[in-house]
Amino acid sequence: MSFPLVRMRRLRRTPALRDMVAETTLGVNDLIYPMFVVEGQNLVQPVPSMPGIDRFSVDKLVEECRAVAGLGIPAIILFGIPDKKDPLGRGAYDPKGIIPRAVSAVKKALPELVVICDVCMCEYTDHGHCGILDNQDVHNDATIELLAKASLAYVKAGADLVAPSDMMDGRVLEIRETLDEAGFDHIPIMSYAAKYASAFYGPFRDAAESTPAFGDRRAYQMDPRNVREALRECELDVIEGADMLMVKPALPYLDVIAKVREEFDLPLAAYNVSGEYAMLKAAAANGWLDYDRVMLETLTGIKRAGADLILTYHAKEAAALLNK
Ligand code: PBG
Repeated sequence: MSFPLVRMRRLRRTPALRDMVAETTLGVNDLIYPMFVVEGQNLVQPVPSMPGIDRFSVDKLVEECRAVAGLGIPAIILFGIPDKKDPLGRGAYDPKGIIPRAVSAVKKALPELVVICDVCMCEYTDHGHCGILDNQDVHNDATIELLAKASLAYVKAGADLVAPSDMMDGRVLEIRETLDEAGFDHIPIMSYAAKYASAFYGPFRDAAESTPAFGDRRAYQMDPRNVREALRECELDVIEGADMLMVKPALPYLDVIAKVREEFDLPLAAYNVSGEYAMLKAAAANGWLDYDRVMLETLTGIKRAGADLILTYHAKEAAALLNK
């Protein structure tokens, strides 16, 4: 059958009809809000390359989390920026470090809010790489021990979920074993399984002061040209005990999201990263795009590609629109 019997426009005629046949839904429950926490008191520091995003001291973070939870957003993911950085990234696994203190404050005030901790060392090392160095290269096996130590510190402080983003080999297994041995076998791991070496992380690195002092991250993050390799990364993380997978960034990697969705049954998250956020903000500031519409279209596209959950700096604005 075809035209004139078939007319595709019939089901597009009214909003109600369009809603009835919509194949993708975007809901507030799908959103995870990334937040930056700094040392100090009473601090709200705007991030210039990410308009609308601030770095908060712990007291202000708790206030902001109330607003986030009030919008119905179920989860946040925390990134810590310590006062002092050192070659061994000690702040990352210090039980009294910025993240454990932030987690316990947030969980105390808002026990229902799911608190996810990003696990990586780049915000804590003075050289800005995602692990400890051995001859200008990140030492894999020494780093994963420290990542497991960091995960344990966060979980002891009350984190609901840990999300390793370093791209070291074997870190999921190392974290799983460490958590299990300490009695935290009920805490899930969301693995940044397919994380690409992307220039779209630029604004985040301003916010986290984590730009590598030399070189780049291509010796551990994935090559943007590869997709079969992403499936291998996912497979290995599943074998090591990951509970959820993530693809990052989202927009230039929608095909990767779709492939991972096809091949794996685990819940899948996609990270709509800082540069993707900054692009829409910049275009909107110039009056070149209708911000609300491109934002919802972007998030819907990420879900349509196959993501169940989206980590996004748009979460508050998106939730406000979706709640209307
Ligand atoms: C690493 C980490 C990064 C992001 C999340 N976790 C930065 C990086 O790999 O350089 C980037 C997120 C974003 O750009 O929004 N700890």
